[in-house]
Amino acid sequence: MDLSLSDVQQALLDTVRQFAIREVKPLAAALDREHRFPAELVARMAELGLMGIEVPEAYDGADLDPIAYVLAMEEVSAACASTGVIMSVNNSLVCDPLLKFATEAQKQQWLRPLARGEKLGCFMLSEPNAGSDAAAQKTRAIKDGDGYVIQGVKNWITNGPQADTGILFTMTEPEKGNHGITAFIVDMHGEGVTRGPKDDKLGIRASHSCQIFFTDHRVSADQVLGEPGKGFKVAMSTLDCGRIGIAAQALGIARAAFEAAAEYAGDRQTFGKRIIDHQAIGFMLADMLMEIDAARLLTLRAAWMKSRKLNHTRESAMAKLFASETANKVAKNALQIFGGNGYVTEYPAERHFRDAKITEIYEGTSEIQRLVIAASLLKSRK
Ligand code: CAA
Repeated sequence: MDLSLSDVQQALLDTVRQFAIREVKPLAAALDREHRFPAELVARMAELGLMGIEVPEAYDGADLDPIAYVLAMEEVSAACASTGVIMSVNNSLVCDPLLKFATEAQKQQWLRPLARGEKLGCFMLSEPNAGSDAAAQKTRAIKDGDGYVIQGVKNWITNGPQADTGILFTMTEPEKGNHGITAFIVDMHGEGVTRGPKDDKLGIRASHSCQIFFTDHRVSADQVLGEPGKGFKVAMSTLDCGRIGIAAQALGIARAAFEAAAEYAGDRQTFGKRIIDHQAIGFMLADMLMEIDAARLLTLRAAWMKSRKLNHTRESAMAKLFASETANKVAKNALQIFGGNGYVTEYPAERHFRDAKITEIYEGTSEIQRLVIAASLLKSRK
């Protein structure tokens, strides 16, 4: 694995870093305080090609690779973790499964506007009683003529309140367990699709999520994504990609928390010297820096494997697990370095602390990542 960036990756990194510092970071605290969806930043990300980073030009994407995606996700998330996840859902949970599983006609119809960022996507797997146990789907798609009728409820759907297009997982043949799950591409403005109030969350407050209700929602057979009964594999393979995005988001949060704490520790004086010169604080910062670097290397490795089309289920889980636990540890210690100032909203430490938590929960909890890694020990991998 070559750790140097190509000219194209470096150019993307420079562009996204400027965008993140100049346009995203100045808004982050207010977006969080006001729980406001950053529509203007999403529009700018669309202009910069960040909503379909790995989608080929033929489908109106930026035609870049998974490493470029990680670089961009870290930068945007370091500035605003909410904006980061809006971007990651569109890229890795919606464009990615369409690229992998959609027919040519489906790509033309659904993928192109998502990759241009004209439409926003969401991923509807979780249900009130199917979170970690993703195969326990209760949403039903019942065959009706040449299409299906869908009934059910989806939970905690990131981008749900704004989404135009959704990837939906349903049970078509319950007696077959995970082999009875079918994925669909859904028009979120269609009849029989309604959205609940947005969730009131601890962190990433500018990224909205909600319940989605399906009541007699009709879809045609050409909205099936992949094959009927193969939806669980669509979901799992999508999460292999999504977990790289969340690892990069966690990395961004960790870096932002670290940089704020390091700057503060260089200014703040106690007992006649800067607090960074107290070994207790200096060592904390040293550990943070090392762990962030380790998380970045794991994340880049997973992205590199994806770019080589190698199985990266285990590597994505490792990257997501390590980066999210690092983000939480770093954000907690950064807040501690800020002391009383860390506990008030005048400084960013408390926001990073709140934002970090979700990275240990969504796209598979830390416990699920450990399960995936342990299960990979027993499987032959290609
Ligand atoms: N790729 C392709 N196929 C896979 C796969 C992968 N990575 N992982 C498993 N499969 C296949 C298996 O090969 C198996 O196939 P067969 O039945 O044909 O042998 C099938 O799927 C079932 O596999 P398991 O027996 O391992 O499945 P399980 O029911 O025990 O569950 C699990 C596995 C890993 C726990 C899974 O349920 C899981 O990942 N749970 C977490 C769900 C999750 O991450 N949800 C996040 C929601 S999205 C979100 O959070 C978005 C957001 O807001 C930002």
